[in-house]
Amino acid sequence: MPRPNPDPNTGALNVQDPAFAARPQPIYAWLHEHFRVATTLGLGAPILSRYEDVVFALRHPKIFSSEMEVHMALGNERPMIPQQIDPPAQTSYRKILDSQFSRQRVLALEPAIRRHANELIDAVIDRGECEFDRAFAIPLPGRAFLSLMGLPQEHLELFLELKNGIIRPPVPPGDLAAAYEFRAKTSKRIYAYFEQVIDDRLASPREDLVTYFTRVEMDGRKLSREEILDICYVFFLGGLDTVTATLGCSIAYLAANPAQRQRLVEDPAIMPLAVEELLRWETPVMLVPRLVREDVTIGDVTLKAGTLVNLLLGAADVDEREFPEAHRVDFNRQRNRHLAFGAGPHRCLGSHLARMELRVALEEWHRRIPDYAIKPGETPRVSPGIREVTYLPLVWPKRGS
Ligand code: HEM
Repeated sequence: MPRPNPDPNTGALNVQDPAFAARPQPIYAWLHEHFRVATTLGLGAPILSRYEDVVFALRHPKIFSSEMEVHMALGNERPMIPQQIDPPAQTSYRKILDSQFSRQRVLALEPAIRRHANELIDAVIDRGECEFDRAFAIPLPGRAFLSLMGLPQEHLELFLELKNGIIRPPVPPGDLAAAYEFRAKTSKRIYAYFEQVIDDRLASPREDLVTYFTRVEMDGRKLSREEILDICYVFFLGGLDTVTATLGCSIAYLAANPAQRQRLVEDPAIMPLAVEELLRWETPVMLVPRLVREDVTIGDVTLKAGTLVNLLLGAADVDEREFPEAHRVDFNRQRNRHLAFGAGPHRCLGSHLARMELRVALEEWHRRIPDYAIKPGETPRVSPGIREVTYLPLVWPKRGS
């Protein structure tokens, strides 16, 4: 018999359980009722799930640090910038990065993203069916990333191959050594790719992000080559999978809830609010880790310095203490301070870009394919960690039928 998740006596939660990833909200509610501090099955890392506790941790990087060894698990040779370093150094990097990701800057990319979305829809619309992850949710953020970085669209396949080599290395399940080796090999290719781009932009500057990195001054000095590489690495990993996961979770929800989908079709003006509500409800980045630097007490549990903790963003986002009727998906929700993009100093750098990508994608998809459903007899599959719907078979009426 499968072990109950979470364990009802200890609150130990298996965060790698695909059933949890597929439908986490009832488990979040159970945690809220029973354990202020739960634990991660296997690792034993404490889990914070209340909104107020998670926000406190995110806003106090001196107590809850982002600098930890476990971060090298993604094949990177050095900490990723700015995600894996604490203020004040992180603050200096954000000063030079934030300006490049403002709402205004991002709007300039909107026509290209709308075009990419329509090209992907063109490729499937007449078939009356597709596997959404492969057909749309994976390639769209990839193309957006290449536009953002000023890189050629022909490199899409290469980028996706490299990204998968890090996020889902093709090795037997559970073979950690093989996964480590594959990631290390892949990361060398990623560094080599961006080394070449840096050389190229130094020789022939352009109006793009990498050229900006080679020129910008931070605290009175230029960025080193390693710093530029460490920034590109996090963009590469942070900017692709997260949007893919959010698109998949949103469409899976809307496919299973036709009345909600109909609201978007009839009134596309509610799209920005709907995007926020879907981000809150689905929170595809379920958790972020932190390392406790100073003893700290949460409720009646003291977390000792040196403890690794998991901040369960997804649970915080359905906490009734913060969100009235938290378990109702309400596209008119006005006060929606969700944590899908984190909070505090490390709050997502790409949130404006992500929001625009999601809004444009959902606008175009519903304008052109308003009446879709999950293929009868099929069940979507969701991966844990970042909740990508890796198998989402959709059907819709063919034109003229
Ligand atoms: C819907 C899509 C996205 C979601 C749900 C998301 C989620 C998050 C979250 C939860 C964090 C905080 C991590 C932490 O506190 O440890 C974060 C940070 C970050 N995100 Fe995103 N992200 C998304 C899209 C993007 C995009 C498109 C980019 C573009 C490059 C991006 C770049 C980053 C970077 C650089 C950081 C680190 C910021 C820092 O540490 O100062 N993200 N993201």
